[in-house]
Amino acid sequence: MMPERPLAVTDFKRMKEQKTRITALTAYEAVFAHLLDESGIDIILVGDSLANVFQGRDTTLPVTIEQMIYHGEIVARSVKRAFVTVDMPFMSFQISLEDALRNAGRLVKETGCKAVKLEGGTDIIKTVRHIVTAGIPVLGHVGMTPQSVNVFGGYGLRGKENRSQVMEDAFAVEEAGAFAVVLEKIPKELAAEITGKLAIPTIGIGAGPECDGQILVSADMLGLFLGNQPRFVRRYAELGNLTLEAFRRYIDEVRSGAFPTDKESYSEF
Ligand code: KIV
Repeated sequence: MMPERPLAVTDFKRMKEQKTRITALTAYEAVFAHLLDESGIDIILVGDSLANVFQGRDTTLPVTIEQMIYHGEIVARSVKRAFVTVDMPFMSFQISLEDALRNAGRLVKETGCKAVKLEGGTDIIKTVRHIVTAGIPVLGHVGMTPQSVNVFGGYGLRGKENRSQVMEDAFAVEEAGAFAVVLEKIPKELAAEITGKLAIPTIGIGAGPECDGQILVSADMLGLFLGNQPRFVRRYAELGNLTLEAFRRYIDEVRSGAFPTDKESYSEF
């Protein structure tokens, strides 16, 4: 049974031990944040995927710390129960330990989010440790890490040729003190092995069914994008088509004079 009270970082390890799967989705603004919280979701991620969904960009690289603070504050303020975690954007934690801690601190102090997420593994051990030691919970993220798109040469599957690197990365973030780790776009067998070996929960996206939890980008699972999607996205609604239909009907009805009617208008009498 999940508690009705606001979720705390300590709940997730217990959930793994009790084999209660962790549910996570993204939000960047108040409408979806409210709806997600009402739905009973465990973790709401203010992901830097807002670059793709909200800003219409091809990569997450241009997102700034100020933008993450802006969206993080809106989401955290809109939520009562879910554990809100905010992404540290590209270049906000790589320059120095001091800079990383300053930015992590801003993300928590200025938004009210309870944790930060960092992409990376063995290369960011010291950074994760530094942030956790200062009192900020860290969610790790290994495998296909979109901020490394230019190094990887695309968004392809990770962990096939570089299986042991992904494994080491997952162990590294656990060792550094992360409370959980996102496994993105890696073979399901590797994700299952990592999940079995780590004490902290794994949250999969394109990492198969054996992870301790799952995360998707909300706009993807709601079918808001009309084009093709990665195979790991299940569309739980077709809101893109529904929205398009509603917009078109509105245009038709305004043009034909069918909207507004008397009932939708005010009168002097
Ligand atoms: O930015 C994001 O939304 C993410 C999830 C897809 C894991 O990192």
